[in-house]
Amino acid sequence: MTPTQDPYTVALIVGSVSQPSLNRRLADALMRLAPDAGLELRDVPIDGLPFFGAHMQSKDDYPQIGRAFKRAVDAADGLLIVTPEYNRSIPGVLKNAIDWASRPDGESSFPGRPAAVIGTSEGDISTAVAQNHLKAILTSQGAVVLGEPEAYIKYDEGLIDDDGTVTDAATEEFLATFLSSFHDLLDRF
Ligand code: FNR
Repeated sequence: MTPTQDPYTVALIVGSVSQPSLNRRLADALMRLAPDAGLELRDVPIDGLPFFGAHMQSKDDYPQIGRAFKRAVDAADGLLIVTPEYNRSIPGVLKNAIDWASRPDGESSFPGRPAAVIGTSEGDISTAVAQNHLKAILTSQGAVVLGEPEAYIKYDEGLIDDDGTVTDAATEEFLATFLSSFHDLLDRF
């Protein structure tokens, strides 16, 4: 990024409604690091979205809560999803949000949208399986998903402080690289 260039705006979705949440913690860390990578992350909450049903997808009376959610996603240059892994896939709350963003028919928020995926858990393979599912979903909807680096963050106790500070230098450096790779992808659009 040159000093005169405005940061890219990025809609940030955290796929967890848990309190506390390790993935919210990871998102806080990314928020702290984003300005140095030329990105401005804007939190887009998903916890207020009702369960999506096909009867809600009319263009003429798409529910206002869904419209507001889509506006927040559509207003940004890119989309960053921080996902937990539930039973070797993504949590239902995140899939529900994706379904909202994909409708109404012909007005999906995904086609051509640059997107990146990251996530954390304490498991040895972290969120690898969930992220692969998520990347397949996003790609099927026409998003352009960052391929490298893959970002499976294994969460060890104390990795990220309450204020979003990463306590391990190698992890912090990796997260900075991840964000700057996403910036490079956004540059291409
Ligand atoms: C989990 N967890 C989990 N972890 C993992 O690495 N792979 C998995 O398949 C699962 N499956 C799973 C299912 C369910 C229903 C729960 C509640 C949990 C553990 C999970 O990684 C842990 O709860 C994290 O803290 C979830 O992320 P958040 O919500 O703290 O951000």
